[in-house]
Amino acid sequence: MTSQNIPILTKAALEVLNTANAHEKANKTRAFASLWRQADEKSVGQITDMPTRPARPDRPELLMPRDMPKRKKGNFDQNKINLLHALSHIELNAIDLAWDIIARFSYLYEAKEGFALPLAFYEDWLKVADDEAKHFLMLSDELEKFDAKYGDLPAHDGVWESAEKTTDDFAARLAIVPMVLEARGLDVTPGMITLMNEQGDTAMADTLQIIYNDEVTHVQAGTVWFKQWCEYHDKDEETYFQELVQEYFHARLKPPFNHPAREEAGMIRDWYEPLADFDYKKKA
Ligand SMILES: [Fe+2]
Ligand SMILES: [Fe+2]
Repeated sequence: MTSQNIPILTKAALEVLNTANAHEKANKTRAFASLWRQADEKSVGQITDMPTRPARPDRPELLMPRDMPKRKKGNFDQNKINLLHALSHIELNAIDLAWDIIARFSYLYEAKEGFALPLAFYEDWLKVADDEAKHFLMLSDELEKFDAKYGDLPAHDGVWESAEKTTDDFAARLAIVPMVLEARGLDVTPGMITLMNEQGDTAMADTLQIIYNDEVTHVQAGTVWFKQWCEYHDKDEETYFQELVQEYFHARLKPPFNHPAREEAGMIRDWYEPLADFDYKKKA
């Protein structure tokens, strides 16, 4: 392999973040992850021109969560399309979020002073990006069965807002994205799998099961690196997680929780359970 062919992680991150077309974004992610796995030599690289927002297609129209159309009791197919579309949007955000954490915090790679991250951290998030791309493409295939595609419906922009609030804070990004938002996926997906099986849609149930299994590992990656950060900075994990969620998330965590899956992912019940009862109005 010539030096020109050495895969550079941050270069790939910029390329994907600056790709607007959703399928291209997913396909480029999968192709790079495969190249990386096969390469003998690889490099993390450095980034100086981090985009504030990833490029996105013109459609879907992005709305504030409160402006999203209310769900109506519609016909069966339309409800399925709504669900698939909402999940596809989450997965597309997740692709960008995984590349964003790689690129934004690339300066911590083997940093000479202070907290440093090893290659394993970046490889964990490349695996996350690859999984999310796989999820997006699987959901697109399901949408196609209904003659629908990503972009047909409006989507909400809440996830990226959480990402923007944590651009400067590595521990906050881990606390909010994998440990709050992705952990929420572990709570709600088993119910969706049951519903799909009840409706006889085993293909969709199988797709959701694959997503669920992968998502446990994403939450786990979040907790592993969060714990490392806390250990280095001599912070109590439980207290610090709660402080960060209160500062950056501004909403109660919604029970019921999937305790066994969260535990498998390294999340301790005492960390998140009190945040279900936290009264933000009182704090303000
Ligand atoms: Fe996913
Ligand atoms: Fe994920």
